[in-house]
Amino acid sequence: MNRILVTGGVGYIGSHTVVELMEQGYEVVIVDNLSNSNISVLDGIEAIVSRRPDFVNADCCDYVAMDNVFRSFPDICGVIHFAASKAVGESVEQPLRYYRNNTLSLITLLQLMQEHDVRHLVFSSSCTVYGQPDAEHLPVDESAPRKKALSPYGNTKQINEDIIMDQAHACASLQATILRYFNPIGAHPSALIGELPNGVPNNLLPFVTQTAAGLRKELRVFGDDYNTPDGSCIRDYIYVVDLAKAHVKAIERMLSGKAEEQVEIFNLGTGRGLSVLEIVRTFEEVTGQSLPYTIVGRREGDIEQVWADPHKANTVLEWRADTPIRDVLLSAWRWEKHLRNIKE
Ligand code: UFG
Repeated sequence: MNRILVTGGVGYIGSHTVVELMEQGYEVVIVDNLSNSNISVLDGIEAIVSRRPDFVNADCCDYVAMDNVFRSFPDICGVIHFAASKAVGESVEQPLRYYRNNTLSLITLLQLMQEHDVRHLVFSSSCTVYGQPDAEHLPVDESAPRKKALSPYGNTKQINEDIIMDQAHACASLQATILRYFNPIGAHPSALIGELPNGVPNNLLPFVTQTAAGLRKELRVFGDDYNTPDGSCIRDYIYVVDLAKAHVKAIERMLSGKAEEQVEIFNLGTGRGLSVLEIVRTFEEVTGQSLPYTIVGRREGDIEQVWADPHKANTVLEWRADTPIRDVLLSAWRWEKHLRNIKE
């Protein structure tokens, strides 16, 4: 039996990936310490796939607890490692917490994978490793240089990529796939799982949907004086369900022995950049909700524009993020309505 250990599987991208894995027939064990997620997400997963994934409440930095997981589930054949702290601003205020949590959890996992002879790892990385790519590198492909990270959070992604490279060099049996995500948004079409931001959302989409739902007075658009067609920042927004499917492709590629390098790296994006104001306008169009917003100053540390060249993932991984943005925005709105019990 093929069982995948999914760390952080109760979180936003993790829960969508668990659904896709289970729908493809995989057994899953989730390890999550619920530090930024809610146990009720397991009910949502069960409602979608009619099976409940195994769940262990543990911290991935806890060697003894994680050793127990590998002992209790000897059929684990691969690990998808999502569990990490991910708030950019918080990482600036609490760098040690970020360095400890994000690096120690990976180190612990890699050590246990070696000890238990589990060979396949998928790691959640981020386009943040590219910083602001130079104009000749846009759209950005995997060969673009990594730039000095702008936050401790971003630095943990770079350090973790390096740790994986070094461990792969030392341990011939390790096979890893590093997935560099662009901006994941949206929710499962069932509206039974989605993003559950804690407090005031930092990210654009949850702020947009909460504003439309009346929880926030208005969206603040951070800057309209960038060197872009409408002056607002450009990102590559990728549907979280498309992103989740890429993880299944990545694990299958390794399990079936198709991976050509010991560590493969893929950019996961749509290949299309959208501005903040385009997102606002499209959201209003597809949902019929008006979205009050005001232009304010730039947010410190924001990249002006970045979007992916997903050619390698399209051809090598045979994966494509092709859900239309209108459907994606609608899924985010349906999820917000489900959360707030909004009827129409
Ligand atoms: N934005 C607003 N108003 C808001 C929130 C966001 O205008 O209330 C804008 C931002 O300025 C940016 C765009 O919306 O132009 C997207 O912002 P997000 O915070 O949603 O996403 P980021 O691109 O800033 O952050 C993402 C990931 C991080 C990662 C970072 C690296 O969420 O994990 O990319 O650039 F570190």
